[in-house]
Amino acid sequence: MDTTRRGVTLGRVEWDRAFEIGIPLVDEQHHRLIDLINRLSDVLNGDAPDEAEIEHIVAGLIDYVGYHFSAEEELMDRFAVADAAIHKRQHQNFTKRVTAMRQETATDPKAMTDLAIFLQNWLISHVLTTDKRLGQQVAAKVGR
Ligand SMILES: [Fe+2]
Ligand SMILES: [Fe+2]
Repeated sequence: MDTTRRGVTLGRVEWDRAFEIGIPLVDEQHHRLIDLINRLSDVLNGDAPDEAEIEHIVAGLIDYVGYHFSAEEELMDRFAVADAAIHKRQHQNFTKRVTAMRQETATDPKAMTDLAIFLQNWLISHVLTTDKRLGQQVAAKVGR
């Protein structure tokens, strides 16, 4: 039987070297994002999650994602990588989706679990595909 208030137990994401894209600044930011997502999961998995704490973590996470996207986009521009527009569009679509999901959480607490699951899945698959490709593109430009 589920003991969490929202009826779902969220898994933790363990940092794995497979997430590394080879740009230390970006890798550190991804590591931090995973830490923040795990913090959110831990709080949501608790018996009596504190709404204010959840809001605080989610707001911090979304801020940090914005900062992180800007850092990646600066790299795309600096190294004039191919397909930068597609990568930036993925960031924009993610931001729009998260904004919409946050509005739902105001009226439906279960939506916060959906948001946490979406954050986990999207960020991992984005890192492993699109960001990884950015790492390869930058490496090719600097001749590594
Ligand atoms: Fe990223
Ligand atoms: Fe990205």
